[in-house]
Amino acid sequence: MLSKPLGKQERKSYGDGMIVLGLETSCDETAAAVVEDPPFIRSNLVLSQLDEHRPYGGVVPEIAARSHLDHLDSLIERAMREAGVGFGDLDGVAATAGPGLIGGVFVGVMTAKAIAAARGLPFVAVNHLEGHALTVRLTDGLDFPYLLLLVSGGHCQLLAVEGVGRYRRYGGTMDDAVGEAFDKTAKLLDLGYPGGPAVEQAAAQGDPARFALPKPMLGRPGCDFSFSGLKTAVRLAREGLDSFTGREAADLAASFQASVAEVLADRCRNALRRFAVEYGQPGPLVVAGGVAANAALRARLKTLAEAEGARMLAPPLALCTDNAAMIAWAGIERLRLGVSDPLDFAPRPRWPLEDLTERAPAPASTAAPAPAAARV
Ligand code: KG4
Ligand code: ZN
Repeated sequence: MLSKPLGKQERKSYGDGMIVLGLETSCDETAAAVVEDPPFIRSNLVLSQLDEHRPYGGVVPEIAARSHLDHLDSLIERAMREAGVGFGDLDGVAATAGPGLIGGVFVGVMTAKAIAAARGLPFVAVNHLEGHALTVRLTDGLDFPYLLLLVSGGHCQLLAVEGVGRYRRYGGTMDDAVGEAFDKTAKLLDLGYPGGPAVEQAAAQGDPARFALPKPMLGRPGCDFSFSGLKTAVRLAREGLDSFTGREAADLAASFQASVAEVLADRCRNALRRFAVEYGQPGPLVVAGGVAANAALRARLKTLAEAEGARMLAPPLALCTDNAAMIAWAGIERLRLGVSDPLDFAPRPRWPLEDLTERAPAPASTAAPAPAAARV
């Protein structure tokens, strides 16, 4: 098991703003972080369960839940120690309450509720996707509204973000999520697990022009995606080869990644144009979620945004993949609007971002927080 302090910011003196403990246990990362407002990450710890799931080639929900249970308490202790705070210094506790693997989500939510109950603190049930969606406000102090491309292992969607809890969906995938396509392609090419970083690494050595793979939805109106045909095309291309060496794997990975980049750019172009009409401003385009860690995709989307007269922003790499700083920050965003959740809040395996509108705070101010004191 790996333990890495991620994206921790350095600062000489502390203000006396709100301090929130965040917990993330919705997939295969056990994470705890302490974040403060004005935006500042005091600690941000992620325990990856990669080694436990690797033999199975994917995340095993039962193993994930047990592992969260085994490690979360001591990780919280460490995060609090590194942050230099005690429970008495906290203004709230936030935990991912969905969507995700429900056994793991229960572990984080029950732990957060227990701390909140024992200390008389407000509890915030955070939607994991909202954690990804609001991270750029923690790192860059971005104002609402913005266009969001959310690309992760389970999700691929374009949304207009109007405020905390206020999302308007422009489009989404009709089949696989883009991270899932990376993971499946990695398996097909024997690149191992986890798939996204492995495909990116292999693609960097490959020739993207060698295989003519499809670019599903390219040139179609709207903002929807489809990736299952692309994955099938990778399989057929591999099966059609006489020999399969590292060269072939690299060329197929590069061709796959180039197709994904073109499709994402095409869909984002439509979304940016719609956003410009609806909100009277060009972007900005925010790319978030695990797949946003991919440098080639970031570069392609930056070029596209600039061609459309918009800025492109993506969180620093350590805050793209799952972490608890984004959960603590989403908690802060809600708490400072006076929103928290009852201790009987039920975790949700499925929880689309648009459903948050039902518990959205009033659209008070669109003002952004001041940017973080130091960038991560
Ligand atoms: O956001 P995340 O950490 O977890 C979910 O909420 O799903 O995203 C994980 C996904 C995985 O599918 C992983 O393969 C993908 O993000 N990913 C990448 C890269 N790093 C992680 N995909 C492409 N290139 C990367 N460098
Ligand atoms: Zn995620």
